[in-house]
Amino acid sequence: MQDSTKNSGGWGSRVTALTGSRWPVILGAMRMITLGELAAAVSNAGGFGQIAASGLTGGELRAEIKKALALTDKPFGVNVPVYRENAFEAIEIAIEMGLKTITTSAGNPAKIMKLAKGGGLNVIHKVSSVKLARKAEDAGVDAVVAMGFEAGGHVGRENVTTFCLIPQVVDAVSIPVIAAGGIADARGILAAYALGASGVEMGTRFVAAAESPVPAFFKEAVAAASCDATILLGKEAMPIRVLRNKVTALVAGLVEKEADHAMISSGDAAYVMSGGDCDTAVMPCGQIAGLVSGVKSAAEIMEELAAGVKDQALRFRAFE
Ligand SMILES: Cc1cc2nc3c(=O)[nH]c(=O)nc-3n(C[C@H](O)[C@H](O)[C@H](O)COP(=O)(O)O)c2cc1C
Repeated sequence: MQDSTKNSGGWGSRVTALTGSRWPVILGAMRMITLGELAAAVSNAGGFGQIAASGLTGGELRAEIKKALALTDKPFGVNVPVYRENAFEAIEIAIEMGLKTITTSAGNPAKIMKLAKGGGLNVIHKVSSVKLARKAEDAGVDAVVAMGFEAGGHVGRENVTTFCLIPQVVDAVSIPVIAAGGIADARGILAAYALGASGVEMGTRFVAAAESPVPAFFKEAVAAASCDATILLGKEAMPIRVLRNKVTALVAGLVEKEADHAMISSGDAAYVMSGGDCDTAVMPCGQIAGLVSGVKSAAEIMEELAAGVKDQALRFRAFE
């Protein structure tokens, strides 16, 4: 298994060595959701919080980093979608404000590596296939998040599930692999470990965290969701997994066209945050929402995860 052979410091330490966090659990970046408060809460609770730069101006990103710095002395990061025009500015801000690790997504990380490494940053890049993982490793990133298409938000066009993706990526690269997509409790973490991952990233679980800034109707919808509550929109362009509701039923056909999808994609976070309702808001969410039963603080979520991993690990030992 990857970590036992390539990692001498115990499971997860290849990831915590990069993030500086206590546990190898990363808060998945979520546009306009993982801002300073949620990032700091997750870092304080032992995970690695991060602020999504997407949708923020340079000034707003600085303000969110400042907010997080005031709320925690633990490390946290910034997520930068590399295809966006302001990717370089966001990385410069992360360097200037003393962050040590960034995550990148949506694009080729090669173009930002010189800047990031010049500023002393660790770079963790999100991929959805073996091919993209190899490309990221060749570009010099320190680790990859491999995300299956059951995840919430934008997913890869490859439609590969986490269960299939992780072991194949682990076999293909020698940098640490962090599993994302469909993980919301200790069983998911143990499964990621069994598949050879060195850590996990979770998004959907934290949408419903007490510190998440989404409106109450969004958290309630995640908590009430069943495993088949989501739909993938924009399959041919930039696929995005969201909760089914009246608006997704209306646009499901339209958004297969790129132009319409672009509208949904850029408008979703702004619309949810500006007070839609559960029928009309576009709410990115993963298939694992069915495991999320209520609103809990980031500290409660992390405590539950840590206790659950210990419990599951003890049970597993019973087979020895
Ligand atoms: C509401 C929401 C918004 C998201 N926004 C982003 C984003 O802006 N950038 C990004 O790289 N990933 C984004 N994601 C993906 C998460 O960072 C994370 O990788 C994913 O949620 C993990 O799968 P899970 O939802 O099954 O936990 C988003 C996910 C959700 C649920």
